Amino acid sequence: MEESSLVRFVFALCLVSSSVFCLDDSDQNNTASSSSAVYIVTLKHPSSVHSSDKEPSGSKHVLTATSSQIYKTLNRSASIIRVHDSLLRKVLRKENYLKLYSYHYLINGFSAVITREQADRLAAREEVDNVVLDFPVKKATTHTPQFLGLPRGAWLREGGSEYAGEGVVIGFIDTGIDPTHPSFSDKISGHLYPIPPRFTGVCEVATGFPPGSCNRKLIGACHFAESAISRGVLNSSMDDASPFDGDGHGTHTASVAAGNHGIPVVVSGHHLGNASGMAPRAHIAIYKALYKKFGGFAADIIAAIDQAAQDRVDIINLSITPNRRPPGIATFFNPIDMALLSAVKAGIFVVQAAGNTGPAPKSMSSFSPWIFTVGATTHDRVYSNSIILGNNVTISGVGLASGTRTMHKLVLAAHALRNGTSVMDAIYVGECQNSSSFDQKLVQGKILVCSYTVRFILGVSTIKQALITAKNLTASGLVFYMDSSAIGFQMSSTPMDIPGILISSSQDSQALLRYYNSSLLRDNGSGEIVGSASVARIVGGMKPTYGITAPKVMFFSARGPDPEDDSFDNADVMKPNLVAPGNSIWAAWSPLGIGTADFEGERFAMVSGTSMSAPHVTGIAALIKQKFPHFTPAAIGSALSTTATLSDRKGGHIMAQRAVLNPDIQSPATPFDMGSGFVNATAALDPGLIFDIGYNEYMKFLCGINGSSPVVLNYTSENCLAYNSSLAASDLNLPSVTIAKLVGTRTVLRWVTNIATTATNETYTVGWTAPDSVSVKVSPDKFTIGNGQTKVLNLVFRAIENNSTASFGRIGLFGDRGHVVNIPVAVIFKIAV
Ligand SMILES: *[C@@H]1O[C@H](CO)[C@@H](O)[C@H](O)[C@H]1NC(C)=O
Ligand SMILES: *[C@@H]1O[C@H](CO)[C@@H](O)[C@H](O)[C@H]1NC(C)=O
Ligand SMILES: *[C@@H]1O[C@H](CO)[C@@H](O)[C@H](O)[C@H]1NC(C)=O
Ligand SMILES: *[C@@H]1O[C@H](CO)[C@@H](O)[C@H](O)[C@H]1NC(C)=O
Ligand SMILES: *[C@@H]1O[C@H](CO)[C@@H](O)[C@H](O)[C@H]1NC(C)=O
Ligand SMILES: *[C@@H]1O[C@H](CO)[C@@H](O)[C@H](O)[C@H]1NC(C)=O
Ligand SMILES: *[C@@H]1O[C@H](CO)[C@@H](O)[C@H](O)[C@H]1NC(C)=O
Ligand SMILES: *[C@@H]1O[C@H](CO)[C@@H](O)[C@H](O)[C@H]1NC(C)=O
Ligand SMILES: *[C@@H]1O[C@H](CO)[C@@H](O)[C@H](O)[C@H]1NC(C)=O
Ligand SMILES: *[C@@H]1O[C@H](CO)[C@@H](O)[C@H](O)[C@H]1NC(C)=O
Ligand SMILES: *[C@@H]1O[C@H](CO)[C@@H](O)[C@H](O)[C@H]1NC(C)=O
Ligand SMILES: *[C@@H]1O[C@H](CO)[C@@H](O)[C@H](O)[C@H]1NC(C)=O
Repeated sequence: MEESSLVRFVFALCLVSSSVFCLDDSDQNNTASSSSAVYIVTLKHPSSVHSSDKEPSGSKHVLTATSSQIYKTLNRSASIIRVHDSLLRKVLRKENYLKLYSYHYLINGFSAVITREQADRLAAREEVDNVVLDFPVKKATTHTPQFLGLPRGAWLREGGSEYAGEGVVIGFIDTGIDPTHPSFSDKISGHLYPIPPRFTGVCEVATGFPPGSCNRKLIGACHFAESAISRGVLNSSMDDASPFDGDGHGTHTASVAAGNHGIPVVVSGHHLGNASGMAPRAHIAIYKALYKKFGGFAADIIAAIDQAAQDRVDIINLSITPNRRPPGIATFFNPIDMALLSAVKAGIFVVQAAGNTGPAPKSMSSFSPWIFTVGATTHDRVYSNSIILGNNVTISGVGLASGTRTMHKLVLAAHALRNGTSVMDAIYVGECQNSSSFDQKLVQGKILVCSYTVRFILGVSTIKQALITAKNLTASGLVFYMDSSAIGFQMSSTPMDIPGILISSSQDSQALLRYYNSSLLRDNGSGEIVGSASVARIVGGMKPTYGITAPKVMFFSARGPDPEDDSFDNADVMKPNLVAPGNSIWAAWSPLGIGTADFEGERFAMVSGTSMSAPHVTGIAALIKQKFPHFTPAAIGSALSTTATLSDRKGGHIMAQRAVLNPDIQSPATPFDMGSGFVNATAALDPGLIFDIGYNEYMKFLCGINGSSPVVLNYTSENCLAYNSSLAASDLNLPSVTIAKLVGTRTVLRWVTNIATTATNETYTVGWTAPDSVSVKVSPDKFTIGNGQTKVLNLVFRAIENNSTASFGRIGLFGDRGHVVNIPVAVIFKIAV
């Protein structure tokens, strides 16, 4: 739903301002003076993961996750927590402070409410690495399994929907979950599937989350709110201080990734088909750190990530992007990305939404190469609806509603006002939000005509409320025309429990009003307009149609290039990594959720955003993890990327919408719009070749950033000198090549490993298209690679003329056993020498 993503966008902006306010206003507790704030403090002594990992620093391109070594080790958490407490006692003796969390698993540190001066004293301690101010973060049916070809592709390979994702645990860091939803029940047909014994998470019992809320599907749930509480923004009677989802967002995205298969979607009394997650047998573990009213804070999110890793989830689905570009020498150095690097080190694949701030270039708010960033596309289902006017003109629109059987009179809201309703009120009565403004006798049995204004887009007025009005007045139907204030915003298929339609074009809206005005009726006595002799029949739009121009990159999907820092520099890292469906996605909803007004009280909702795309990829990553349990996070990302599709259903190039106010402005999507392309789940389960990256390479990359070694030391306790070489971002073994500035000639290396499951050799032929103003040469241009073998490819790029416009190319490796490996290339500045 486009307007819902816009609503979310506006909501996020409000969040920025409200949390900036909160930062200065944390004076809710006398322990926290007005200058106190939440600080995240990291210590030099390594965390549990870092200290126990004995990965030799020379080992490259290992496909086996190091997690087994990591988890076997001693339980150091208790002693780490004691160290934190004693440090605070020592440095802040007899002073006021409030420790919120000890982080001991992925990072060794804690968060606390302290003053700037106390923070400085802690920072001066030798054992302290880094002290940063906590920062606010924002949130960024189920036809999609068919659209993605899962039933006959990926699921079939894993034994059908009853097995897809089995044994894989996905951790969700979001607004919680509605545990009573049938999408998360374990009482479903099929064989018993046990909780993976390695999982050690707990199921918190709290308001909305009674004992027994967890089961074999929903295997863990807890919530993190210490930072929010310390700022006084969490009102436990309003915000659920429990894993329960009071928003709807978390329930929705968890069901997209891993909701049960075959759950009937019933909305406003209409059965719209069955819902299924992408990996319907994967297990769900909830780490709630986002709240419906204020979003969340980094200190709580890091606690959630730390716990998820400790509980041994396989995949983290992250709904969080920073509210602003992190300051400092590079975007990668922020506490969340650094905690996620540790998660990746522990073998956990991390999926993050690109953000809903598109379509401007560099609107990306997911930065780091160890994170898999997903943008949003349309998919092919459209619910269309129409209204036939008495003059035989048919107008099409949207709206999930039934039709009227016969023609009914039309009445414009402004012409059905109750005596005494003043013109002042009438400014808003057109939106039909309040039945007391209307004269029931004038509306009864007619189709009520209301105006869809920008206030609907902002969520101030709702279609749900207009439906309540129409039903109260016993209208036979409801039609919305587009007010001039809403022109350009897309309307989406909102469920309606009486016949209804939204007319989404302003020309068609004018046509309706012209017809209505052509036959106005007046009151005999007063001469006031009391309606119109115009009639119409709503046809109803419950049957979806399936288009062929999907997928298409949505206007709101955030775009690359990846910003390297606060300046104008671009990182040599491809973002987004992939696109997946994120428009009008049906999935489970919390009936108490307030995230989208049009779905209040419903068990399912249709929502849009990159937040909806990410869990599609999360679910498919679970299928890959199930098939290849030993894949590193980079290997999973490689499988998803190299197999992505570049064309839409028509066989044309995938297009990208380029304007918020006019979705028809579009042009072919570049890698900065869609990364490697649109996810292909079937192909991702058989990628042929893999580009792998180990933790050490990420460290060498971070150490290669100019002036980074003190920051690296601060965050990871690792000394860059221990990495005897550094790695430029272009040289990370990513399944893409990005060169922000190409001066003369640049050679980059890539290593591919054959992971095909058949023990035969495959011969690959290499082909490419060079970006404009660049020449490309790949050697070898043909090679044979055996199962388990690794081959090095030399990619040579030469600027052949000066140009500062980004240009794009592709390298394709075509195997004689059918594997196709697709590598996008982006070069921004070209300087020929
Ligand atoms: C205020 O601080 C005290 C500890 O000094 C703590 O017990 C109490 O829960 C805090 N109150 C709030 C609202 O954070
Ligand atoms: C490790 O120590 C923590 C803190 O004392 C404790 O809560 C946890 O149960 C311990 N875990 C194991 C596996 O012993
Ligand atoms: C490292 O952390 C210390 C302590 O917080 C801080 O003073 C210093 O500026 C940090 N160095 C860098 C390069 O971020
Ligand atoms: C929490 O919300 C309730 C209900 O709206 C309100 O009565 C109460 O004053 C709020 N408490 C705080 C501390 O804001
Ligand atoms: C939807 O699921 C129900 C049972 O949950 C099943 O009876 C029905 O056949 C399914 N419909 C489709 C179209 O899959
Ligand atoms: C509309 O079409 C019907 C049949 O096609 C015809 O009988 C009727 O006269 C038309 N009405 C107008 C106003 O054109
Ligand atoms: C509204 O006022 C007119 C006269 O001004 C009167 O005839 C009519 O009955 C009134 N309607 C209602 C609903 O009060
Ligand atoms: C319409 O709403 C009014 C109060 O707003 C209520 O008195 C009346 O019963 C309602 N009528 C119907 C048909 O729901
Ligand atoms: C999954 O991640 C996406 C993108 O980061 C986010 O928007 C969504 O809410 C997450 N879902 C859950 C259930 O955590
Ligand atoms: C996805 O991959 C499969 C297997 O390689 C292929 O048959 C199919 O055509 C691809 N789908 C699209 C839409 O490209
Ligand atoms: C694969 O190729 C290698 C040489 O690169 C050869 O020794 C080996 O026999 C081949 N294996 C098969 C199964 O063809
Ligand atoms: C620079 O490259 C772009 C696209 O690659 C092209 O459209 C443009 O004409 C080039 N500019 C110059 C000055 O060559």
